[in-house]
Amino acid sequence: MTRDIEKVLLSQEQIAEKVAEIGAQISRDYAGKNPMIVSVLKGSFIFMADLVRAVTIPCTVDFMSVSSYGSGTSSSGEVKIVKDFDGSIEGRHLILVEDILDSGRTLSYLMKTLKSRGAASIALCTFLDKPERRVVPVEVNYKGFTVPDAFIVGYGLDYDQRYRNLPYVGVLKPSVYGGE
Ligand code: PRP
Repeated sequence: MTRDIEKVLLSQEQIAEKVAEIGAQISRDYAGKNPMIVSVLKGSFIFMADLVRAVTIPCTVDFMSVSSYGSGTSSSGEVKIVKDFDGSIEGRHLILVEDILDSGRTLSYLMKTLKSRGAASIALCTFLDKPERRVVPVEVNYKGFTVPDAFIVGYGLDYDQRYRNLPYVGVLKPSVYGGE
């Protein structure tokens, strides 16, 4: 697996330090609010698991799964909720957890949809941000790292469902996905 990686972009140590920072910030910002921390599957599952363990205040967790109808490496803007929350979000302070913000289409759609369901507030926490790829503006409340427009995998991010289990974030060798 590691031989498919051109270079390590974010090491395990860098990631751990950043996740601890975000966890501490959320703990301060949401003290007494019992936030509902929601992982948007699948990519965010590793970040989510580390993040909630860095949050020191009472909170609940939930999971949702969306799929964009786009093919290949970019999303189309049409988003389908494949798995919804288990409970109601009425009156809750939601924190949506994503692995990466790319075109912004998925998150912009989700925010719009969820706002109509009566949450007290909705914040967005993304592990990675690729601003160069943004098509739709999205307001980010908590961000791990800004990354260049390279093909990155690991720490939950996949290529063709593989490499999610790499403990760091790496740039994939173009030969793996048929690039130069
Ligand atoms: C990724 C990521 C976001 C979305 C971001 O999910 O987790 O949901 O793409 O892209 P956008 O900003 O262009 O909308 P993906 O569709 O790769 O699914 P996965 O999380 O299951 O890997």
